[in-house]
Amino acid sequence: MLKIAGINQFYGSSHTLRDVSLEVAQGACTVVLGRNGVGKTTLLKCLVGLLPVKGGGIALAGRDITRTPCHKRVDAGLGYVPQGREIFPLLTVEENLQIGAYAGERNQTAEGKQFSFDDVFHTFPVLKTMRRRIAGNLSGGQQQQLAIGRALLTNPKLLILDEPTEGIQPSIVMEIEAVLRSLKGTLSILLVEQFFDFAQAVADDYVVLVRGQVVSAGKSDQMEANNVRSLISV
Ligand SMILES: Nc1ncnc2c1ncn2[C@@H]1O[C@H](COP(=O)(O)OP(=O)(O)OP(=O)(O)O)[C@@H](O)[C@H]1O
Ligand SMILES: [Mg+2]
Repeated sequence: MLKIAGINQFYGSSHTLRDVSLEVAQGACTVVLGRNGVGKTTLLKCLVGLLPVKGGGIALAGRDITRTPCHKRVDAGLGYVPQGREIFPLLTVEENLQIGAYAGERNQTAEGKQFSFDDVFHTFPVLKTMRRRIAGNLSGGQQQQLAIGRALLTNPKLLILDEPTEGIQPSIVMEIEAVLRSLKGTLSILLVEQFFDFAQAVADDYVVLVRGQVVSAGKSDQMEANNVRSLISV
C-alpha cells in the first residue's frame, strides 16, 4: 500500500532523514519506533506533504505521490492523525468530524468502505455523547479519539498516526489499541510510537529510527529478539 524508498530531508544544514525506506503492506500495520528527536514526525510530514523531500520516492497504492501537494494526498488516500492531535479546539466535536467528512467525501478505503458518522460514534461512543461539546474542553484521550474519528471520515487507504498514546490515560490507550487492530484489513496503518507493548500489539512490521536512519526492521514478533527495547528506551 505504501512504499517509501530512500528519502532524505534537511532542516537547513541538518540532515534529518537519511535514506529512509519502509513499506506498509495492504491491510497491515507498520510501526516506526525511535526515541525523541530521531525524525519520526519529520518522516510523517514528508509523507503527507507538509515537508519536501530531497531524493527518494513515495508511492501510495502504486501511484507516485513524492511531489503531490498535501491536500491532493488526502484525495490519494492518506489520513493523518498528527502528534498532539491538532483538533480544532473552538469547534464542537461534530464540527471537527464534519471537516474530515468534507475533506474525504469522494474517497473510499482500498476495500471500498466509506465511514459514516454512525461508524465513528460506534467506534468511539464517547464522541456521540459529547458531540455538541467544544472540542477544546475534552480530555486528552477524548481529543485523540476525535482526531482518529476525523481522519477515518476522510476514508483513507492509509491511516497515519503520530504517537497516539502520548499523554493518554491507560484505559483509552487500550481502547485505541483495540480500534486500530479492528481497522486493519479495512485500511492500512502507519503508526509512530515509542511505547513498545502498544506497538507490538498493533503492528505487523516494524522499523526503528536512530538519528534519521533505519537501524532495525522486521516482523513485529521479532521485536523482542532483535533488541528493539534497548533501541527505544531512554
Ligand atoms: N522545524 C524544524 N526546524 C529545524 N529542526 C527541526 C524542526 N523540527 C524538528 N527539528 C529537529 O529535527 C529532529 C527530528 O525531529 P522530529 O520532530 O522529527 O523528531 P521525533 O522523532 O518526532 O521526536 P518526538 O518523539 O519528540 O516527537 C530533531 O532534532 C528536531 O529538533
Ligand atoms: Mg514527533
